[in-house]
Amino acid sequence: MAQTADRIDRTEVIPYGPTFVAEIRGVDFTQPVGDAVARTIHRALMNYKVLFFRDAAMTPAQHVAFGKLFGELTVHPFVPHLDDFPEVTVLDNHKDNPVFSTDVWHSDETFRLDPPMGSILRCIRMPERGGDTLWADMAAAYAGLSDKMQKFLSGLEAVHDFANFRHKFDHLPIRERHERLAQMEEELPNPTHPVVTTHPATGQKILFVNPQFTLAIKDMREDESRALLDFLYVQAATPEYQFRFHWQPNSMVFWDNRGTQHYAANDYYPSHRTMQRVTIKQERAFS
Ligand SMILES: [Fe+2]
Repeated sequence: MAQTADRIDRTEVIPYGPTFVAEIRGVDFTQPVGDAVARTIHRALMNYKVLFFRDAAMTPAQHVAFGKLFGELTVHPFVPHLDDFPEVTVLDNHKDNPVFSTDVWHSDETFRLDPPMGSILRCIRMPERGGDTLWADMAAAYAGLSDKMQKFLSGLEAVHDFANFRHKFDHLPIRERHERLAQMEEELPNPTHPVVTTHPATGQKILFVNPQFTLAIKDMREDESRALLDFLYVQAATPEYQFRFHWQPNSMVFWDNRGTQHYAANDYYPSHRTMQRVTIKQERAFS
């Protein structure tokens, strides 16, 4: 495990593994984050895919401003957000609001034609025990396949859907439910993504199917598609490709959504866990 630290200004990048996960220290979030620091963080994100910060206390406005350093932010179509900051998605789970769908492996919002480049998640409230999040390095998962399997996957495409979020409308009267679903299907028509994508910044090949939003592999029989997807999900579940983070209030994780998947461990019900997230559409140009 690498233990070296690159020191640039006061920002330290402390890798946890050769190509996956680093801790970032030395960023002063009480002040606006400058461009040089943003570049250092972006470079670390390209190198390590998942970055975590301890003691990243900040207001929602600062969270939004930090996210905008890396690109335009999305507004999630289904998950609640702060009244004053529609870009800040709130994941608030407790006795009366059990976890919904975050305990399935996924990249965020692959039901979009252009899935976001990254997400920045902050911990507001943690249960006394549990509530970890896990990430998987999907470039490593791809690299671990045989040459024959890599060749077989090349050129395959999969259909994605907002899937479980359809149940968000279950409580509505049937007519209204159908209308809302039809409206969402129009706004979010099923996109097709390659099963293996090429990371636009690093050129790495990435396994880009997930059990949350991937419906099926195109032009295969249903049972063939199911068997292949199940095999690929097992591949991504290899411990060597994964990282598990234990949150505390004000810890923050910034992940590359194109090269990773994540899973929020649903092991704390009925305790209260609150997280806030901003999501970045496409990154700004970093020279
Ligand atoms: Fe997510």
